[in-house]
Amino acid sequence: STVPDGRLLPGAAPEAVRAERVALRRHYLMCRPEHFAVTYAINPWMDPAAGADAARAAAQWEALRAAYLALGHRVSLIDPVEGLPDMVFAANGALVVGGRVYGARFAHPERAAEGPAYADWLRRNGFPDVLEAAHTNEGEGDFLVLDEVILAGTGFRTDLAAHQEAQEFLGRPVVTLRLVDPRFYHLDTALFPLGGGNVAYYPGAFSPGSRAVLERLFPDAVLAGARDAEVLGLNAVCDGRNVVINAEAAGLIGTLRRRGYEPVPVDLSELRKAGGGPKCCTLELRASAAPDLAAGL
Ligand code: ARG
Repeated sequence: STVPDGRLLPGAAPEAVRAERVALRRHYLMCRPEHFAVTYAINPWMDPAAGADAARAAAQWEALRAAYLALGHRVSLIDPVEGLPDMVFAANGALVVGGRVYGARFAHPERAAEGPAYADWLRRNGFPDVLEAAHTNEGEGDFLVLDEVILAGTGFRTDLAAHQEAQEFLGRPVVTLRLVDPRFYHLDTALFPLGGGNVAYYPGAFSPGSRAVLERLFPDAVLAGARDAEVLGLNAVCDGRNVVINAEAAGLIGTLRRRGYEPVPVDLSELRKAGGGPKCCTLELRASAAPDLAAGL
């Protein structure tokens, strides 16, 4: 807003005045951490000797689900499977765009059975068009969907060939980004879409070439520092306005607020012991033409 002579009101940050952030109602798939545990180590966050507190993890997960429901989103649940302690990380289960499902094919044998479990659920719940991927990929852990493009990570889990396979199946341009820091082994640990064609990311997680690509595509991006990245602050979920984010990411939370977003802090410290945060626990189901999904909140 402006004063009569057209100047900005004193104290109002220009970017905050410009920001008109609109939330869209989302449909998420989640998996209760009933069998959650840290029993193997497939990323640097996991320490089987230290383990994790299952009851605490369950309470934190329930609060995450409650936060989505309070924001007006729809949350569906897939039954957890015994012997799959990482199944709570629904983001890795598939990539769902325009009603089509690009199935996950996990890099590590410990998680291999999760791919078919998620594919089966999706087939039985309104998403019959499932591609069984020929190439290793960990679903929305490494594929992040924007309106015009899909950003895809490689370097630790998802094969480059899967980027091409997903592009061909989904008919959306897929932009490859190379991850270089093992702590940020999935793209969704280093970057999240903000809506409006913008993203937030931690530059240190990417190769020099990929950093240059990000700068070119997103000159207005929200940049996070090492401290926010190290608490998995980039593993956040934005509906266009609200950002469900690890509470410890104080710097990033402040930046988001100044940029006109509404941070919704959550505590997922117990799930972080497996290397996961809010986004890891959340698979977005993007239908082709469901009117209630397109309606603003
Ligand atoms: N322990 C799991 C793994 O290493 C964590 C997965 C986190 N999910 C994610 N979308 N980043 O595979």
